[in-house]
Amino acid sequence: MSWPENVGILAIELIFPSLYVDQTELEAFDGVSAGKYTVGLGQSRMGFCTDREDINSMCMTVVQRLIEKYEVKFSEIGRLEVGTETIVDKSKSVKSVLMELFEKEGCFDVEGVDTTNACYGGTSALFNSISWVESSAWDGRYALVVAGDIAVYAKGSARPTGGAGAMAMLIGPNAPLVFDRGIRASYMRHAYDFYKPDFCSEYPKVDGKLSIQCYLDALDNCYSGYCKKMGLKGNEVNLDYFDAILFHTPYCKLVQKSLARLALNDFIKNPDQSKYNDFSQFKDVKLNETYFNREIEQSFMTYTKQIFESKTKPSLYIANQVGNMYTPSIYCGLVSLLISKTPEELSGNKIGLFSYGSGLASSMFSITVKNNPDALKRIVDNLKPIRDTLDNKRICVSPEKFSAILQLREENCHKAPYEPQGDISQLFEGTFYLDRIDDMHRRTYKRFSGQILNGNV
Ligand code: ACO
Repeated sequence: MSWPENVGILAIELIFPSLYVDQTELEAFDGVSAGKYTVGLGQSRMGFCTDREDINSMCMTVVQRLIEKYEVKFSEIGRLEVGTETIVDKSKSVKSVLMELFEKEGCFDVEGVDTTNACYGGTSALFNSISWVESSAWDGRYALVVAGDIAVYAKGSARPTGGAGAMAMLIGPNAPLVFDRGIRASYMRHAYDFYKPDFCSEYPKVDGKLSIQCYLDALDNCYSGYCKKMGLKGNEVNLDYFDAILFHTPYCKLVQKSLARLALNDFIKNPDQSKYNDFSQFKDVKLNETYFNREIEQSFMTYTKQIFESKTKPSLYIANQVGNMYTPSIYCGLVSLLISKTPEELSGNKIGLFSYGSGLASSMFSITVKNNPDALKRIVDNLKPIRDTLDNKRICVSPEKFSAILQLREENCHKAPYEPQGDISQLFEGTFYLDRIDDMHRRTYKRFSGQILNGNV
């Protein structure tokens, strides 16, 4: 077998909850000033699940949908990796649950298990899958990367930055969306910015301010590493290099600030260019002393306003409508970008991606959109209905009901035996849902379309 060329994304599928709460209504319900969540955080709606959905059901839904839409056979998949921080079993992987879909087709020879580090697990799963396709272990089949999470916070300032969703990406050679080789840059260190030490709760412990500082620190370091590696290959990287720049999105405002931060990085590297004439007073600032410097933040946000509109805002559409999905977040940015343009407009684009997971693990990498019109069109066409689903097919739930649903999840987290109470008829057709948990904590799922998934999983 020859060295596989153009390894990348051949198919991509994204799911999100059918229920959402409106962030303007949530501001009023929480008693915060009008505009805090919508303008201050940049969020419009937040998707959430009842007790009918858990991480296993969401990942089953997204995998089954990708298989059906792209008519892939389970036997064509040789590696399946799941990235998640939503843990329902400390030992058994979500991947092992997904094997029930494969088992029905008699498929058991599938490598890979789960990867966890906050919102970064999906990226780690992706990197493992790319490595497998490029390795001596590759047997010619596809890798399937799944990332999913239910992002819920305790009552308080972090709650409006929740969300939920799952994505699946089919990885293989000769793809229309190709991962650039040899230029990934990572930044990993120990931090207690966001973590989940309470095994009886879905909620994290969060140091909000520290989490923003860690995110921006990771961004500075990944960008610097990416630029250095590209420099060694003879390419100068600055904001002009990319056609689109995507970021892990805890909330949209942080992403707008992050793009401005990359401009600050460019300026500090090369301050004497005429385009930076207004910034001479910032010439000697040190990046690690500027995380919360309002003057610098505002100056570079103003400077990058147009760049943000053209290169980053299109990637925020789904995040603005659903919220932080954790591990799928950066890939939900990719989906938003793909549905914002035609395949012709996307062809030849260079897309920069910054993936961040608290704790912390982060990477910057890039995708080149190849001139592969049929394959690209197929991906874009399959994703296009997302806009109509998000805008018109979801159910708006009052903040009171939202709060009660989260309370129910909280009270019954890890309870066994348990009969979920959420209304099945409110799910999107084709959604897998939790039917029951027995006294041995074994979960049973059904699919909302009359199809019953047999057995305990
Ligand atoms: N109109 C417009 N803007 C407003 C209003 C208003 N009425 N009220 C407040 N704001 C602005 C604030 O000025 C602030 O903007 P700024 O950051 O530009 O100053 C923004 O709204 C948020 O207000 P804060 O008071 O800073 O919010 P708070 O501290 O209560 O919570 C936080 C924000 C820390 C992000 C919280 O939601 C949280 O902890 N979330 C989870 C952690 C997180 O997402 N971290 C990000 C990286 S780690 C990860 O991905 C999980």
